[in-house]
Amino acid sequence: MKILVLGSGAREHAIVKALIRTGSVASNVICAPGNAGIAQDVACVPLNANDPASVVAFATAEKIGLVIIGPEAPLVAGVSDALRAAGIPVFGPSQRAAQLEGSKSFAKEIMAAADVPTGMAHECSTIEEVESALDDFGAPYVVKADGLAAGKGVIVTSDREAALEHARKFIGMGILVEEFLAGQEVSLFFLADGHNVMPLTPAQDFKRAYDHDEGPNTGGMGAYSPLPWLPAGFVEEVQRTVAQPTIDELARLGEPFVGLLYCGLIVTERGIRVIEFNARFGDPETQVVLRRLLTPLAGLLHSAATGNLETAPDPRFSDEVAITVVLASEGYPDKAAPNRPIHGLHHAAAVAGVEICHAATAQDGDHLIAIGGRVLSVVAVGKTFHHAREHAYEAIGHIKLDGAHFRTDIAKKVAN
Ligand code: AMP
Ligand code: GLY
Repeated sequence: MKILVLGSGAREHAIVKALIRTGSVASNVICAPGNAGIAQDVACVPLNANDPASVVAFATAEKIGLVIIGPEAPLVAGVSDALRAAGIPVFGPSQRAAQLEGSKSFAKEIMAAADVPTGMAHECSTIEEVESALDDFGAPYVVKADGLAAGKGVIVTSDREAALEHARKFIGMGILVEEFLAGQEVSLFFLADGHNVMPLTPAQDFKRAYDHDEGPNTGGMGAYSPLPWLPAGFVEEVQRTVAQPTIDELARLGEPFVGLLYCGLIVTERGIRVIEFNARFGDPETQVVLRRLLTPLAGLLHSAATGNLETAPDPRFSDEVAITVVLASEGYPDKAAPNRPIHGLHHAAAVAGVEICHAATAQDGDHLIAIGGRVLSVVAVGKTFHHAREHAYEAIGHIKLDGAHFRTDIAKKVAN
């Protein structure tokens, strides 16, 4: 089966590597547009992944048997709808079902209808409404822009003035003021075929830019999997109380969700609460989740895309643990540094258990350059978190990129 992966980040590189590791033939995998690292593993084509007509034309001409959509932009642009209309199996929800990620108020409505546990929230369209909602909930304050804001739409702060300032910036797109939820965060992915869901394995993302969870929110600076501290039965509980009812509600509304349901959760003292849904694989969690997958990924995603998850085998995961550390350009997440050369990747990739997923890299003549914020993800596996961390940080030590920064505390708390 020929497979087309849409996207150009470390998540897509991890998907490509997992396809090959679990049995897909590299010459049958194509990525569009891809990046310099993905191009070392499979063919990359300069296709506009956000243009439905181009993607359908390419997939038809190439007799693609499965399209896997990585980022949210093609979903929002209706690429999955166009592929489905053309009869091409696609792993990625419709434009409307993807609203679960794109509209926080839509997500809240679905959760309310399906009785899914989440934080209390007030929808506000004026600053006066925001002020009164802030006072209702009290500090710490959680203010969210109601739309796609590239990870910059949420502020969590005890400073009422900062919360208001954030609300003023986004008031045009609608604001959600939410109850603060205290606890550990968990990302849990489910494959969905419109009616059935199948869990992958839990991971934890490190969202803040700097060590000790300090600094601004980012797209994610690292992750690890599994989460040894989760209570027994956690995955089953999330499936029963969150994922299945959400998928059922969307199906009832005539918007069956086919693709990846990303459940962003907080484990509070009063139980599991949803903080967000995404309609796609998370980045960087995918790098650790798929690194541990043993079951053929192409078969699982094809079963979901064609409504056949019931007949698919349960996914199995390695007993080894995985961690990923993101290397970011100077200035990320505020402003991207200019393009700079990267050295030492061969050395880094030669460290035991290490794999490098590229994100913002490009080929410049015969060397590699960094062209954006999150440059690459160093992924390492090991028998223990202690070993995986040793491998990952040894590898990252070999990589030379002027001004680059990374967190040194990924999975540190579980490594002892
Ligand atoms: P979101 O984009 O909704 O996932 O929010 C980004 C980050 O803000 C989350 O990963 C959490 O760390 C934090 N956050 C969001 N909502 C809440 C909440 N209700 N209580 C505490 N932290 C939150
Ligand atoms: N790592 C968070 C996300 O993919 O949204």
